[in-house]
Amino acid sequence: FVGHEVDFVKGVVAMDGLPPDDRPEVCFAGRSNVGKSSLINALTGRKGLARASNTPGRTQEINYFTLGPEKYLVDLPGYGFANAPLPVVEKWQRLLKQYLSGRATLKRAFVLIDFRHGVKKVDDEIMTLLDRSAVPFQVVMTKQDKVKKWDQDKILEQVRDALNKHPAAYPEMVVTSSEKGDGIPTLRAIIAGLD
Ligand code: GTP
Ligand code: MG
Repeated sequence: FVGHEVDFVKGVVAMDGLPPDDRPEVCFAGRSNVGKSSLINALTGRKGLARASNTPGRTQEINYFTLGPEKYLVDLPGYGFANAPLPVVEKWQRLLKQYLSGRATLKRAFVLIDFRHGVKKVDDEIMTLLDRSAVPFQVVMTKQDKVKKWDQDKILEQVRDALNKHPAAYPEMVVTSSEKGDGIPTLRAIIAGLD
C-alpha cells in the first residue's frame, strides 16, 4: 500500500454502473455495522475516505476505490439489519448479491465478522452464495479490541467450525482492530500479494 495512490472512483447503484472490469479487485462484505468502511480507512491510512458511522446501513452503494493503478478496493453495503426503509434495503441487498455472484475480476471477497458476535445465519448465507459463485473468500475478524482475550478462543473456534462447511473459504482468518491497528499490516500484505 505504501506509495500507492488511493482515490475514490465512484458509488455504484446498479450492475451496469460498475467500472470496466479491467483490473483485479477485492471487496469487503459483512453485516451492517461490522466495520467494512472503517477497515478500508485503516488499510489506506485515510480516516475519512470511506464514510463510517455507528448507524447500521451507512454505506448504501458499492463504493470503488483505486489502489494504485492496478487494483480496486470495493466497499459494499452491509447485509442484515439496516437503519433504512425496507424497499431501499431490499434494492441494495439485491445489488450486493448480483455483485458477489457476477463480477469476473473479483479476486477475493473479505467477509468481515464482528468478533463479539461470531458467524450468524446471514453470514452463512452469504458464504454459501460465494461457494456457489466460486468466489474465494477469507474471513476478517473485526473489533478485536472489544473482546477480552480469554473470550476470543471460543469465538474463533465457532468461526472455524462454520468455515469448514464452505469450500470457497480460506482456512486462515485475519484478526483485526481498525481502532488499534492490529492485523492491518497482515491484511495489507495479503491484498498486495493478489493479482
Ligand atoms: P455499514 O456501511 O452500515 O454496513 O457499516 P460498516 O460495516 O461499513 O461499519 P463502519 O465502518 O461504518 O463501522 C461501524 C461502527 O463500528 C463505527 O462506529 C466504527 O467506529 C466502529 N468500528 C469499526 N471498526 C472498529 C474496531 O476495530 N474497533 C472498534 N472499537 N470499533 C470499530
Ligand atoms: Mg460502510
